[in-house]
Amino acid sequence: MATRLLRRTSTSTSIASPLSKLLLSRLHATDTAKSSPLTSMKTFSIYRWNPDQPSKPELKNYEINLKECGPMVLDALIKIKNEMDPSLTFRRSCREGICGSCAMNIDGCNGLACLTKIESTGTSMVTPLPHMFVIKDLVVDMTNFYNQYKSIEPWLKRKNEAATPGKEYLQSKEDRKKLDGMYECILCACCSTSCPSYWWNPESYLGPAALLHAHRWIADSRDEYTEERLEAINDEFKLYRCHTIMNCTRACPKGLNPAKQIQQIKRLQN
Ligand code: SF4
Ligand code: F3S
Ligand code: FES
Repeated sequence: MATRLLRRTSTSTSIASPLSKLLLSRLHATDTAKSSPLTSMKTFSIYRWNPDQPSKPELKNYEINLKECGPMVLDALIKIKNEMDPSLTFRRSCREGICGSCAMNIDGCNGLACLTKIESTGTSMVTPLPHMFVIKDLVVDMTNFYNQYKSIEPWLKRKNEAATPGKEYLQSKEDRKKLDGMYECILCACCSTSCPSYWWNPESYLGPAALLHAHRWIADSRDEYTEERLEAINDEFKLYRCHTIMNCTRACPKGLNPAKQIQQIKRLQN
């Protein structure tokens, strides 16, 4: 009876008030809740390894009710840690794709757990970023990755800095636009750890993330070390281990195109 009344009200322009819309949406929500089951169980198979226990790594299953969980894989991990197994170890901070710390491999693809929706069916497998040394569970050692980033000297370099202390270096809108597609990188390492060339040469090949940042400074009109930067990476391993496999671009959760940036560097080398 109430349903009929509200449906009729919502089609009448004279009395379709915000209140009636609210009542209708609440009624609809109640109907939906009545028609759907109270539980929706889902299994997460998660990589576990503890350096303090002399055992091999294993995949451990956790079953959670999706009706009592947020929509993202990170929500599920937090729920498991809070309610089922406090020893589960993973990195996270912002929960909105900004900090890059929750990068991991989910169902075979690198991505950010906080931006990856939970698949409602089947079992989901969650493992650390591939080909990285594991510190514990889903936490990998990022030391080599950060050192490679540091090696490209990711800061503005000027030749006559001492002559103009405290000076602001202006840039035209056109020149600023050239940095789009690079400055947005959050250094999550999803790209580098999806690249087979990086798997095979993790120390000598800089990898797509560090090379994207190298190009970010090469392309910056305010930087005066363009030639030196190009020369520093003009190396058969540092740069030319990229064989245009493109996994990096497919993996980037920020929609960036590291493969394209590497191509731009190669073009500038000629
Ligand atoms: Fe992550 Fe994309 Fe940056 Fe690679 S380019 S580190 S995938 S944000
Ligand atoms: Fe690797 Fe991407 Fe080059 S996947 S080989 S860095 S295009
Ligand atoms: Fe920051 Fe996922 S928690 S990117």
